This record gives sequence, C-alpha cells and structure tokens, in this order.
Amino acid sequence: METIYIETYGCQMNFADSEIVGSILKEAGYGFTDELQDADYVLINTCAIRDNAEQRVRHRVRELRAAQNRRPGLRIGVLGCMAERLQSQLMAEEDNVSFVVGPDAYRTLPDILVRVREGARQAETELSTTETYADIEPVRFGSNGISAYISIMRGCQNYCAYCVVPYTRGRERSRDPKTIVDEARKLFDQGYREVTLLGQNVNSYACGDVDFPGLMDAVANVDPRLRVRFATSHPKDLSDKLLEVMAAHQNICRCIHLPVQSGSNLMLKLMNRKYTVEWYLDRVEAIRRAMPDCSITTDVIAGFSGETLEDHEATLELFRKVRYDYAYMFKYSLRPNTYAARHLADDVADEEKTRRLNEIIALQGAIALENNQKEVGKEYEVLVEGASHRSKEQLFGRNSQNKVIVFDRRDAQPGTYRRVRVEACTAATLLGQLSD
Ligand code: 5AD
Ligand code: SF4
Repeated sequence: METIYIETYGCQMNFADSEIVGSILKEAGYGFTDELQDADYVLINTCAIRDNAEQRVRHRVRELRAAQNRRPGLRIGVLGCMAERLQSQLMAEEDNVSFVVGPDAYRTLPDILVRVREGARQAETELSTTETYADIEPVRFGSNGISAYISIMRGCQNYCAYCVVPYTRGRERSRDPKTIVDEARKLFDQGYREVTLLGQNVNSYACGDVDFPGLMDAVANVDPRLRVRFATSHPKDLSDKLLEVMAAHQNICRCIHLPVQSGSNLMLKLMNRKYTVEWYLDRVEAIRRAMPDCSITTDVIAGFSGETLEDHEATLELFRKVRYDYAYMFKYSLRPNTYAARHLADDVADEEKTRRLNEIIALQGAIALENNQKEVGKEYEVLVEGASHRSKEQLFGRNSQNKVIVFDRRDAQPGTYRRVRVEACTAATLLGQLSD
C-alpha cells in the first residue's frame, strides 16, 4: 500500500479540506503516515492569503528536496489556495513538485496520483459552482475525538479589495443541510461534544429554504450536550434572526468572530466591505443585547492602501470601543490580481505597517488582559479537552466564550463537561479550579 503524508497550512477550512482529501484517498486505497520518511507522496495543503503564507510553503517545498534525495520515489503535490492561484506556474517554478490541485478538484486526486506515479506532472485547478463534497465523510486526522469541523459552504463572492479568496475558492455554494445535520449527529454518537460549522461567510448560507439561522437551529437540536460554533461571519450579513437563534440555544457557543478589518469608514469603503463603522458598532450592540456574555473576536489589517495616521487612529479607537476578547492582526499584503493590486497603490511603507500593527497588538493585549481579569471569580461550564502544555497534572478546556481555562486535573476526564471557577489569568489564558 502506498502511503501519504499531509501537511496543512492556513485557515480552519483548509484543515477541514485536508480531512476530505484524506477520505477520498483512503477510499482509493492509500494509507497515511505521520512520518515523512515513510511517505510515497507528500501533500501540502496551502494558503495564499498573504505573501508570507506563500513564502513558507515555497521554503518547505525546497526543504523537501532532501527527503526526495533520500527517497527517490517521493512525489510532492501542492493543494489548496496557492495551487489555485499559481496553477501550473508553480510546477514550472518548483521543479520538484509533481502535481498541483485546487480546492474544488480533490476528487481527481486518485487519478492524478496514478499518473504521477508513472512520471507525469499534472495540474487540476478547475473551480466549480456546485462542489461541496457533501457526500464525503471526512477522515478526522488530527482530531482529539472531542471537537470537529463541519464544512457547510464553500467559496466567497464578496470581493473585498485586498482578498485573494474569491479567486482561489470560487463562487459561494451551500451544502445540503440534511448531510450537515447527519454529520453532526454521527459525530455526537461517536462521542464528539463540539462542532464548528465552517464557511468563508457562513451568514450567507442558503440551501433551498434553509438559511444560516435555520441550519444553526437544526444542528443545535441534535443534542443539548453538543456545542455548536461557527466561523466566519461577515458583519454586513449578521442578522438579528441569527442572534435570536443563538440566544435560544444554550449549546450554541457565546462567541462571534466578526472581522472588522479597519475602524475607518474611508478604508472600509476602499476595501469594499459594504458596511460602515456605525453599522458594525450597531451589530456589536445587537450581539450584547441578545447575549450579554457573548465574546466577540475580530480580524484587522494594518496599513491597507491609502491608510493615513487618522485612519489608523480610528482603528485603535474602534478597538477601545468594542474591547475584543481576541483579534487576529495582520499587516496588509498585496495579492496579485485583486482589486487593490489592480487599482490601488500599496503606499504605506513596510516599517510603518509594522509600527501600526504593533500598536494595535499592544492595545489589544492590554484589552484582552483587562477582559480576562474581569473573569476572575466567575464560574464556567468547561468542555475538557486534554492535558495542558505546561503540566501533566493540569488539564485545559474551553468555556462557551471559547476562552481556554487551565485547571488541576483531579478526577476530570477529556470529553466531559465540568464546572471550573476562575482564580487567575494571563492575557491569553484563564487559570482555575474544578468546582463541581
Ligand atoms: N493582507 C493582509 N491580511 C489579509 N487578510 C485577507 N487578505 C489579506 C491581505 N491581502 C486577512 C483578513 C481576513 C483574514 C482571514 O486575513 O483580516 O479576515
Ligand atoms: Fe483559507 Fe483564505 Fe488561506 Fe485559502 S487563502 S487557506 S481560504 S485563509
């Protein structure tokens, strides 16, 4: 049996896709290994969202030459967003890559591997308007047996000016809700206690007459002991109806990832985000009205085209207003062929982008710490996940707000719910003790 080694970079969607790839290739008779030296194929599932994500993959591909020298039959394939963006150009530039397969073409992998084994080089990068891999039951590779991703929709057609995703993942399409609910139920029966519904913009999920709130309601009804999370939401589509459904189900987690990107209306307009700061703050208020204990997290970009100091200051001001529990913070990275690359100047100097980014990071760090300090003394239901990194005597889990809580092990078991009282914190972690 030939064996495959899969490496995954990028977002949660990519990790979910690797599990679909795993399933397709397992079905075709391939085995999997965690040891590079045992592999006949290395598949690298890649991200194209920023240049540094691509550079990491380039570096890795070149590094794999050594493994190929030790094992001459070893074939390398690049999957995912970078494969889609660069297509066969990637094989021309990296001559040790044998195949390139985009996110909608994973069903072709078994055929490709056969041809590649015979010495061919191949690129399959056709995008689809219908592919959702709905019928494929993912192989839960990296899973802890407790929490799993369920992909519910693919693609994005929002065309934010900076973003490569509409070009690498194609048009939006939603997966049949029945297959989603069935997958959730099956996971619950296997002992899983948390599912995260994934899509580039889950709020625009629509299949027949089922919209995203309807889907959330159906998945939450699988079992009250199954926690339901979702990512990612576009602020323009975050509806009151969704907030009502969330508030009505204790097992829908009190956590919303709501990427803001900038706190300046001018930048939001240039970015083609289709909302204003005022709209965004209204959505934040609506969330807090519906669920006062809901945590809110975000993504932000520092130094987008034309960003002035005033625009940057507006972003800091927005962070002070919203007081996010967590933020993914990035320097703007120009992506070829996007609207911004074609029409806007990448005119903030790199050092200045770094300076602005660091300012946001410092502010957010202080806010996260203050938010966590307010948690001290509170008690939460925690889904226990496993041993903490620091000590075997300690376990970690998450509360509904998705905050990590570390506590002494005692009789607690991974995969169960326990009550934990928070006693101390850092900016990233809560520390507590079992209280039940
Ligand atoms: N440069 C920097 N950050 C980007 N993101 C998307 N495109 C870019 C880019 N060109 C960020 C956005 C998005 C997150 C997934 O990555 O904040 O929400
Ligand atoms: Fe995920 Fe976007 Fe990166 Fe593709 S480009 S892996 S969709 S973050």
